[in-house]
Amino acid sequence: MIRSVVRAVGSALPRRIMKNSEFEATLDTSDEWIAQRTGIRQRHIAGPDETTASLGEAAARAALADGGLTPVDIDLIVLATSTPNNTFPATAVEIQHRLGMRHGFAFDLQAVCSGFVYAVATADSHIRNGLAKRALVIGAETFSRILDWNDRSTCVLFGDGAGALVLEAHDGEGSVADRGVLAASLRSDGTHKDKLYVDGGPSTTGTVGHLRMEGKEVFKHAVGMIADVIEGTFAQAGITADDLTWFVPHQANKRIINASAKKLGIADEKVVVTVDLHGNTSAASVPLALDVAVRDGRIRKGDLVLLEAMGGGFTWGAVLVRW
Ligand code: ACO
Repeated sequence: MIRSVVRAVGSALPRRIMKNSEFEATLDTSDEWIAQRTGIRQRHIAGPDETTASLGEAAARAALADGGLTPVDIDLIVLATSTPNNTFPATAVEIQHRLGMRHGFAFDLQAVCSGFVYAVATADSHIRNGLAKRALVIGAETFSRILDWNDRSTCVLFGDGAGALVLEAHDGEGSVADRGVLAASLRSDGTHKDKLYVDGGPSTTGTVGHLRMEGKEVFKHAVGMIADVIEGTFAQAGITADDLTWFVPHQANKRIINASAKKLGIADEKVVVTVDLHGNTSAASVPLALDVAVRDGRIRKGDLVLLEAMGGGFTWGAVLVRW
């Protein structure tokens, strides 16, 4: 059977680093509050010349270089983002153009913070169905552009950045020993749409709008939903938490990450945490964390890696990959 194997990984971050303490000048908050409640110490913020397309392109180029590939080798681009450069065309098509590609196809996928997990599962389906042989799967965001910088309960949480994987078709045996995407579980439930949303859009206000969140409500549902999809992927693959080499969760809040790992029986030393460095970069958070853990030598060929995310909608999902 065809398996979608990770060939390469890359990432890109805006030049400017914003420390927690910088909020103290304009908001009633502190480095201590932010670090204690979320684990975040800093985030990167895009400058005027940095956009979702430019960061996505840079992450894509880094992944291509990592794999010894050029844009000619790619026939699909899936970009997970909630902060596209324009309402349309898809920012994925702009990235395709920036890469000098006039072949293949590219589209955006919108599942907020779960976007990258959805995008990996979607690219995997296209590869297994024979629609593509080699896909760039990108998560890129500029959430700084949709934050209300006067709302301390949200603006301290998010950051900008991009990460990318190259997935390519390989033959597999059909067992859990195969390299590649082994299982995926995706969910959504619009009952919760008003707990985390942007209060604008093309068809309602005609404006871009700002992010609004009932943080406590999101927190309350997060751990149970995350556990639910992870148990789904474990059942599909016939494995348990003990079989995992690495757990790479969506980086929203250290407390949610710790509580989820504990509920699932995943040992602390298997959890990749980068929320301290990047804040919550929505669809970019999982590939940014993957890139850090691959670069520093933690994630290696043959490792069993679990990706997970939960976000606005609500949407949530998990993907199991043998690296
Ligand atoms: N600095 C200081 N105080 C603050 C700040 C701040 N930046 N923000 C809120 N507070 C205050 C609140 O006003 C409240 O004060 P009050 O008690 O006087 O009313 C107090 O701190 C406690 O607020 P809570 O909201 O109860 O704080 P909590 O411990 O729940 O932490 C947080 C808030 C960090 C937002 C948490 O709820 C959380 O992480 N929620 C989940 C967010 C998340 O995971 N999102 C993921 C998806 S993101 C996506 O899809 C785009």
